[in-house]
Amino acid sequence: MADKRKDKAEETTKAGISRRKFLKGVGVGGGMLGSGVLSGSLLQDGHGAQAAATKVLGPGAVAIELNVNGKRWPLTLEPRVTLLEALRDHLELTGAKKVCDRASCGACTVILDGSPVYSCSVFAIEAQGKTIQTVESLADGDTLHPVQAAFVENDAQQCGFCTPGFVMATKALLDKYPNPTAEQMRLALGGNLCRCGTYVGIRQAVMQAAQNSPQNSHQNSKTRAPQAGRQSRAGGGHSNA
Ligand code: FES
Ligand code: FES
Repeated sequence: MADKRKDKAEETTKAGISRRKFLKGVGVGGGMLGSGVLSGSLLQDGHGAQAAATKVLGPGAVAIELNVNGKRWPLTLEPRVTLLEALRDHLELTGAKKVCDRASCGACTVILDGSPVYSCSVFAIEAQGKTIQTVESLADGDTLHPVQAAFVENDAQQCGFCTPGFVMATKALLDKYPNPTAEQMRLALGGNLCRCGTYVGIRQAVMQAAQNSPQNSHQNSKTRAPQAGRQSRAGGGHSNA
C-alpha cells in the first residue's frame, strides 16, 4: 500500500514534473495550501503544465493594488487578507461592516465591477484589476446620494449596522434596473439581513430611491431636497413596486 502511494507520488506528469515535486512546490501538506495563493487557473483545472507556469503568492505579504472609489491604492498584504479587512484595516474605509464575517448577513456589501459582493468573502488579492465601490463614495460632500437619502427619510434603520450593506445592494440593483419589479427587489436584497427588522422601511426606501433615480426623474437627484423626494413618492407613478 505504501509502495503504491509512493509510485503515485512519483508519477510523472506530461509537463515533466512528478506529483511529489508538484505538491512540494505548491506547499501542499495534509490537503492544505497553507496560506499561499496560486495565481492563474491552476486551482480550476489542476493540470501539471499549468503548475509549471503558475506563481505561488504568499503566505508572506505581497504588493498589490486596489482600485477603490476611483483611486488606486498600493498595499502590501498577505494573500489571506479579505477585501473587507483591506478596506477597514488598511484603507480606513469602515463603512462596510464586519458582522458575520462568513457570507451570511450582507453588512459588508460592496460593489465589485458593478455587482454587489460580500467583501468578507473575497480575498483582497482577487479584487485586483477590478473596480471597487464602497458606501463612502456615494455622498457628494454633505449631499447624500438618493439611496442614502431615501433610507433616512423612510426610517429604514435602527442600529444601522446593516444599513451600508443594504444601501450598496440597493445601488447595485438600481444601477442595473432603474425601475425594479418587486421580484427584482426581493432577489437583490435577499442576501442582506436586518436583525432590527426594518424591512418595511427598507422596501419603501428602495421604491423611493428608484422613483428619484436620474433615469426615472430626468433630473439630478443629488441636488434635490429631502422633502421633495417624499413629495415625489407621495405623488405615485412607480408602477413596479
Ligand atoms: S460580514 Fe460579510 S456577509 Fe456578514
Ligand atoms: S438596523 Fe439594526 S440590523 Fe438593520
